[in-house]
Amino acid sequence: MERSLIILKPDAVQRGLIGPIIARLEQRGLKFAGLKLMQVDQALAQQHYGIHQGKPFFESLIQYITSGPVVVLVVVGNNVIQMVRSTVGATNPASAAPGTIRGDFAVEIGRNLIHASDSPENGEQEVALFFRPEELVDWARSADSWIYE
Ligand code: RTP
Ligand code: MG
Repeated sequence: MERSLIILKPDAVQRGLIGPIIARLEQRGLKFAGLKLMQVDQALAQQHYGIHQGKPFFESLIQYITSGPVVVLVVVGNNVIQMVRSTVGATNPASAAPGTIRGDFAVEIGRNLIHASDSPENGEQEVALFFRPEELVDWARSADSWIYE
């Protein structure tokens, strides 16, 4: 089982797209284990995006992700890393396929609405960075037998 950390970035919150974006993930049949509104501070932003340190867009990325509240979610299940990434769409919304979240709601890479973990290892690390263990809920979903064979 994999865990993916999703961040609805400040533009998603400011544009009133929390509901429509979460609906895409929920309607696909993905299961949430954590969900909260929070403010990302400088330290957390630099840790989360540490891999991009030194790149030309790093400073603006930190400014962007700390510029207002975000909604963070944990998605759990088999193969969820790849499934969430495909629902989110390409990093640059200009080339994201219609039907994806970025392809339907965004136009620029610096305002691409949503983050999703890119590997199972990073998923585990990012979930631990954003959630305390007691904030995560392990629950049985009654619809599971209608979503998984
Ligand atoms: P994310 O980490 O936010 O889920 O996005 P991603 O995996 O699709 O893309 P990644 O390469 O990890 O880049 C992280 C975020 O940095 C911003 N970015 N700007 N101006 C640029 O060339 C550029 N490249 C990346 C985007 O906000 C991207 O989501
Ligand atoms: Mg990334």
